[in-house]
Amino acid sequence: MGKLDESVLQEFLNIVGPNHALQEPDLTASYTTDWTGRFVGRSPMVLRPADTFQIAALVKVAAHAGISIVPQGGNTGLVGGSVPLNQEIVISTLRLDQCEPVDGLAQQVTAGAGTTLAKAQSHASEQGFDIGVDLAARGSCTIGGMIATNAGGINVVRYGAMRDQVLGLEAVLSDGSIISHLEGLEKDNTGYSFPGLLAGSEGTLGIITKARLRLHPQLSERCSAMIALNTVDDAVAATAQLRRTLPSLHAVEVIFGETMHLVSEHIKASIPVGPEARAWLLVEVAATNDPTDELANSIALLETLPIDVAVGIEPAARNSLWQYREKITEAIATRGTPHKLDVTLSASRLAEFVNGVPHLISRIDSRATALMFGHLGDGNVHVNILGEQGTEPSEEVDRAVLHYAAELGGSISAEHGIGSAKKEFLHLNRSESELAAFRAIKASLDPKGILNPNVLLPPKSS
Ligand code: FAD
Ligand code: MLT
Ligand code: ZN
Repeated sequence: MGKLDESVLQEFLNIVGPNHALQEPDLTASYTTDWTGRFVGRSPMVLRPADTFQIAALVKVAAHAGISIVPQGGNTGLVGGSVPLNQEIVISTLRLDQCEPVDGLAQQVTAGAGTTLAKAQSHASEQGFDIGVDLAARGSCTIGGMIATNAGGINVVRYGAMRDQVLGLEAVLSDGSIISHLEGLEKDNTGYSFPGLLAGSEGTLGIITKARLRLHPQLSERCSAMIALNTVDDAVAATAQLRRTLPSLHAVEVIFGETMHLVSEHIKASIPVGPEARAWLLVEVAATNDPTDELANSIALLETLPIDVAVGIEPAARNSLWQYREKITEAIATRGTPHKLDVTLSASRLAEFVNGVPHLISRIDSRATALMFGHLGDGNVHVNILGEQGTEPSEEVDRAVLHYAAELGGSISAEHGIGSAKKEFLHLNRSESELAAFRAIKASLDPKGILNPNVLLPPKSS
């Protein structure tokens, strides 16, 4: 890392102005500690540029001085990728939060990287459209951060992840140059895809400043169901069946055992169906005409699998079912600092994994608890681990669970990315030649290694 002397700090300050160059620890704290509280960093300066040109100017100064940068959006990332763990400069995109008018003809919109998901959703909704990705962090997470982590959320089963929503990007590269390709043409085979390259790059290849997003016509007719099931295998089988028989399927989430009891206690509402169940599916169907019958018929085809079913048709009834899913992350956070492991398993290995995790972790730390839930429609299981009395569990537990997922052919990161938390495990999913190719891409786009150097890529093995 280069020398961050007063003259460089002064150059940064001259670009953004004194009100947007934060140095006091009490002003920078919310930018230097991650959402879970697990990753605590420090930064000599948090910069809040107003626009793409100020970001480009800041990066030029940092590149010349060899100063490392952490690009940051809403700081809701869950893998320690958005905070300055090695005294990096933080560049916050939160002021780049303007959306252009919705292009109704193309069903697209161009949004500033610092636009929160909630703001983008309401902007699109005014014109009768939805953003294809939704997550409970919508009030804080930003479009740029969601692209950088290739965020998933609850509608991947219908619209895919964030990468699938991006038709064009504007970004600042590590030399301060600006790339911009925002026309949003559906077919545009003119060379490499920057959206494909920067989605999931976690701030290591460029700072996204704008994105051209595809929009989806709003589906106003909705219905939700909570389905209580005896076993994890039954939950997997029911999910596969629902995916086959429900063209209007919009979300299939799952809450397992202890997690349902925790969130029920947290929201002070009893479990709506099958309190003795091992798994509860939360299913949502959405269409332009009433999908209630379609859902009812599809659930009937599950025959004896469900223990019991609760259905919500009116918005209030649907929301009262969805709060059991939406409030999980908050409920766990009240119990301590979890280690959040977010893995993908194939349908054929998922039940084995979920059933095996509690035994696996109790052999390592008998006081640790695994709280499991996730986006079952795309095989994504969230394993939130709490140590005794909410203390942090040992890293050994993380290691064992991620190795177990990889041994079963799964991914060590379904949607949260690698960050700093998982880079030592990346080799479980990526071969040496893939890692070498990653490093070659990184070296060509960030030759000085100043963009988020702490995340994603593990140190070269000797
Ligand atoms: P940050 O946390 O600020 O940054 C995340 C990463 O992206 C960092 O590496 C950062 O350097 C980089 N980055 C940020 N902005 C830019 C930019 N403009 N250009 C380049 N790099 C950038 N995630 C899911 O996928 N699915 C979920 O269902 C989900 N649910 C969540 C629920 C809660 C309550 C919380 C707190 C988080 C949840 N998350 C979920 C995790 C998180 O919201 C996502 O990872 C989100 O995409 C992060 O966006 P952000 O703007 O907060 O990014
Ligand atoms: C969610 O889906 O709620 C988050 O991605 C998972 C988590 O908070 O661990
Ligand atoms: Zn999730």
